Amino acid sequence: MSLFDFSEAELNPGEKHPKSIGIVQSVDNGRVFVQISSGEKLQLLRIGSLVAIPGGLGRYIIGHASRIWRHQPKVEKAQAEVEADDVKDIFTSIPENNGALLNLLGCIRDRADGPRFSRSMDDLPGIDEEVFLLADKNLHDFMNVVSASSKTAQTTPLHFGQFSLDTTASAYLDGNKLFQRHAALLGSTGSGKSWAVARILEQANQLSDTNIVLFDLHGEYKNLPYARQFKIAGPPDLAAPSEDVLFLPYWLLSYDEIQAIFIEKSEFTAQNQSLVIHNAVKELKKAHLEKEKKTQVLEQFTINSPVPFDIKVLLAQLNELNDQMVPGASVGKEKQGPYFGQNKRLIPRNEGKKTDRRYGYMIQAPPEWHVYEALHSLAKILLGFGKSDGVSSGIKIIDLSEVPIDVLPVVIGTLARLIYSLQFWTPTENRHPILIACDEAHLYLPKAQNANPLERAAVESVERIAKEGRKYGVGLMVISQRPSDVSETILSQCNNVISLRLTNPSDQNTVRKLLPDSLGDIMQMLPLMDVGEAVVVGDAVLLPARIRVEAPQAKPLSATIDFWDEWGKSDPREDALFAVISENLRRQERLDKL
Ligand SMILES: Nc1ncnc2c1ncn2[C@@H]1O[C@H](COP(=O)(O)OP(=O)(O)OP(=O)(O)O)[C@@H](O)[C@H]1O
Ligand SMILES: [Mg+2]
Repeated sequence: MSLFDFSEAELNPGEKHPKSIGIVQSVDNGRVFVQISSGEKLQLLRIGSLVAIPGGLGRYIIGHASRIWRHQPKVEKAQAEVEADDVKDIFTSIPENNGALLNLLGCIRDRADGPRFSRSMDDLPGIDEEVFLLADKNLHDFMNVVSASSKTAQTTPLHFGQFSLDTTASAYLDGNKLFQRHAALLGSTGSGKSWAVARILEQANQLSDTNIVLFDLHGEYKNLPYARQFKIAGPPDLAAPSEDVLFLPYWLLSYDEIQAIFIEKSEFTAQNQSLVIHNAVKELKKAHLEKEKKTQVLEQFTINSPVPFDIKVLLAQLNELNDQMVPGASVGKEKQGPYFGQNKRLIPRNEGKKTDRRYGYMIQAPPEWHVYEALHSLAKILLGFGKSDGVSSGIKIIDLSEVPIDVLPVVIGTLARLIYSLQFWTPTENRHPILIACDEAHLYLPKAQNANPLERAAVESVERIAKEGRKYGVGLMVISQRPSDVSETILSQCNNVISLRLTNPSDQNTVRKLLPDSLGDIMQMLPLMDVGEAVVVGDAVLLPARIRVEAPQAKPLSATIDFWDEWGKSDPREDALFAVISENLRRQERLDKL
């Protein structure tokens, strides 16, 4: 039996099928112009409507309408005038025309296990072939074919939601392709990004050895029961950090990051300072390796190798060089050393950082974070996976909600670089793929021209993952409400775009640039979509389509506040609250409840 009901009519030669909406008029590189047979049939079509062009033997070419037009007859025009018209558009020379432009999406073929949809097409439609609209039961059947075709690829498929065109058909994403070649999850604030992330995490949690690190900027994901929670040490955690508190000691920084944090590029002596720091850090790392008797590492380490050193000793050395006098040309006379006065500003500035609690996560880590083995422990946390008691140590949520915004890029840049480097140096056969999900990416992965030195270091680390990550099993998911502010290099490497409602024109433009030209018309939907509805385009979906993202069971704490309703409730506020919130602000700690 045929898949669609329009296949079954018995026709005389030359007779048109009563259900067809028109015929193929011209074909051009995956785009098909259709002449629609009547005004009534034209009214059935919408932008985005799906159509099928039967090719015999259970094969159908599938396309979607990206332009629809009705050209009124130009009866009053003289024939000469019509001919003189610019013939750029082949339809302008036709006096009466109802037409549609289709973009081809793929092909249905009959297989032993039923009809299957795929994007590959072995031939294009021929001229005069009939075109049918997929509506009602036909649409339902088609969406089910798509659903079945994308599901069969994996034993535990990533069930993202339902197709908007037919909400009874489940929409699956190809979990391999989604992460292999990176994904961007975009949408205006409140459009449902965090819920979509939680949905993906929840689905990933069905697998036994999921490996994801999510940067959680607002503490939204802290109540997902299946995930392992960490936080970057904030000022209140410095005294007695609990087990879930992470430190990123300064010795983990690369030389570029050290420069970005400790050296003021605009200072006249910046170059000399870089040189001094370079030499001193290298020597201190060497001394540590000698003390630890790591002879092999000693031979091969570089300035960027994460080897502990003591920042106090470094600053003391810089101080010494700053005041150093060396023997002069004549006996008994001294002259200023090569770095005399060069570090005058560097030292007090960085002495300040030593006690600045915002940098506590880096400088004031407890002693156990300053030993050689600390990197092993951190690697285990970042790259570890597995499950115990229903909690996956592979889904790691890193709460950054108390990290001040100016140090945020350093923290994320260091974490991303460490994950990538550790994965890079994992023997190929032991490598287990890992996804880095960057929520609110516009806050720390800005475009190059807007980035300060700290942000640039972070952007470079993540750009490297965007470009090279695939080869080493590091996937990236960039989540943002302001795609137009996010590094273009990073976004352009994302082969999958999940876009929720997007209202700002410059953000829409950014998304348009990420899509192939033929799908430009999908953009028209972006401002019109419902909350929780997404357009998914890329190699993770068989069909670029609108999907209603299924609400996750465990929801992020991103609930939208209902101002009017809240104002309508009586909620007497104790005087004490104001004192508490003022203290929270001073201490940089948000207590959840009074
Ligand atoms: N798939 C969905 N189904 C039903 N409701 C949803 C869905 N996604 C989101 N919502 C509703 O929209 C609200 C906002 O969603 P969410 O926090 O995911 O937005 P967001 O895009 O992450 O916003 P922001 O950019 O501000 O972080 C949710 O609290 C929920 O009420
Ligand atoms: Mg969010």
